[in-house]
Amino acid sequence: MKKLTPLPYAILATLLINLCACQDAQPPQSQQIFNTSEKATLSNADQVKNCSFTKGANWWSRSFESLPADVAKNPVTGSPEFCEFYQFAEDYFLFLISPSTTPGIANLEDQVNFPLLETTGTNSCDDSYPRHSLNVRNAKHEEDKQGFIIPERIDQAGAHAIYDQQGNVVFYEIRFTKNLCDYPAIQSKLNFPGKTVEMKMAWRVLNTADNASLFYTTNTSINGKDYRLGLVGWHIVVTADNHPEMVWITLDHQSNAIACNDIGTNQTAFDFTSQTCAQNKDQCNNLNQTLESKLLKLPTGTKANDICQSFPYGSVEGKPITERDGLNIALIKKLNNELHNNILNQPGLPTSLPVWKNYRFTGALWISDTKLDSSDKTNQRGSLQLANTVMETSFQGTVKNPSKTLNCFICHNYNGTNSGNSNTASTALLSHIFDDIISGQKCNDVTASSLINNQSQAESTCPSTCSNKSINLAWNGQWTNQDATTGKQLPMTVCGCCIK
Ligand code: HEC
Repeated sequence: MKKLTPLPYAILATLLINLCACQDAQPPQSQQIFNTSEKATLSNADQVKNCSFTKGANWWSRSFESLPADVAKNPVTGSPEFCEFYQFAEDYFLFLISPSTTPGIANLEDQVNFPLLETTGTNSCDDSYPRHSLNVRNAKHEEDKQGFIIPERIDQAGAHAIYDQQGNVVFYEIRFTKNLCDYPAIQSKLNFPGKTVEMKMAWRVLNTADNASLFYTTNTSINGKDYRLGLVGWHIVVTADNHPEMVWITLDHQSNAIACNDIGTNQTAFDFTSQTCAQNKDQCNNLNQTLESKLLKLPTGTKANDICQSFPYGSVEGKPITERDGLNIALIKKLNNELHNNILNQPGLPTSLPVWKNYRFTGALWISDTKLDSSDKTNQRGSLQLANTVMETSFQGTVKNPSKTLNCFICHNYNGTNSGNSNTASTALLSHIFDDIISGQKCNDVTASSLINNQSQAESTCPSTCSNKSINLAWNGQWTNQDATTGKQLPMTVCGCCIK
């Protein structure tokens, strides 16, 4: 895990008044009427009207190979428009939720195509893997000084956890496409190849008070006890050859959280919003804050933090369709509507699929000109406030100050092709896991000669533990005294040692 750059809180995005949906810089609309060269124009209203999300029969039998490597070009303008990004997002989503050849799971959990990111110091690319690799830490803007161990042991204390209304902590898990395992091939280019997928999932414990049929579920063992987990949040990011910055997509479960604007008017409880908070903002407990997690047991006995969703479509609402935010929201609504009322109702649909009607696309984010860095806010497109309620709980923008955009690119930085900088280098910040995938293949856990209980003991013991082992190994800053698969306390401490 690398150090992340601090949030550029001070940088306020220029408020964009966008008359044109087109991806590339274009003259104002009035001039376009007379501009017969190059591109034909497409009004935003027509773009939404012509944008089809319908699918043919048996879409759930599609193979990964048949998925697009490029974001398609709009037939009218000749370049990808908002519609084509959402169609691209839809294609990957529908593939990922489709039944895998392994009974009982969807493609998204198929280890053959989408290996699980395992504990630091463990090879996520070999044939040995656990059923799950859960951690409790939410996204945060700066890595801790002590090396972040992924996944943080589920029974280890840590900061930045969130709790559902039953007092259970939320777990996170990461998967990626297997092509990333061949890191020399990936690093021979400045950008990840098209069809590279990375996913982050948020799960909550389901118990008798929950209707499990409303969730995509999985079973796991935590501290030796069996639990059923329900998917509550899902990040999917996909590289396209023509969009190496990746298309950043997120989905929320419908019953996660109240829209912040609805507090006081909508009286219902959500899985992450108490009824008292839904009724009155003053009654909310640590609204949109993460909490310190004590030694974890389930249920934790922790008073849950309340969550509300600042931007249900990752965009400022109430704008006309002639503006980009208006266009973006119209397309997200159309996509969710088609999914819920048509695509997931098709005849012959496998029985595992209707459950996805309980999830919705919050939005997608990408950039217009891939020559430029993602940090250039005028270059960002789609849901400029994209955040997931259960993953970026404390990193959602505020409705009152929408020009202060907070989105995925704050932490996941793409270097435009003009910069000449690599996005696949271990130090690059587009993917936060690629360095772990590499080091997992290069590194080993080596047993230290004494038990280590804190960072300063690790700093004095681990370097020699690694160098004693072989002159080629150096300490990677990480250590643990818990077993990677079972989470149990080990009699000895292991230090992360990597090939220099
Ligand atoms: C506040 C910083 C921050 C923000 C904002 C953020 N992330 Fe992340 N993200 C991280 C960190 C750190 C990791 C590394 C793993 C972890 O901590 O869980 C990560 C991991 C991921 C992963 C796993 C693969 C990878 O690339 O590392 C995905 C996928 C992901 N994030 C998607 C998103 C999406 C989509 C958004 C926007 C909706 C987003 N993230 C916003 C910090 C952030």
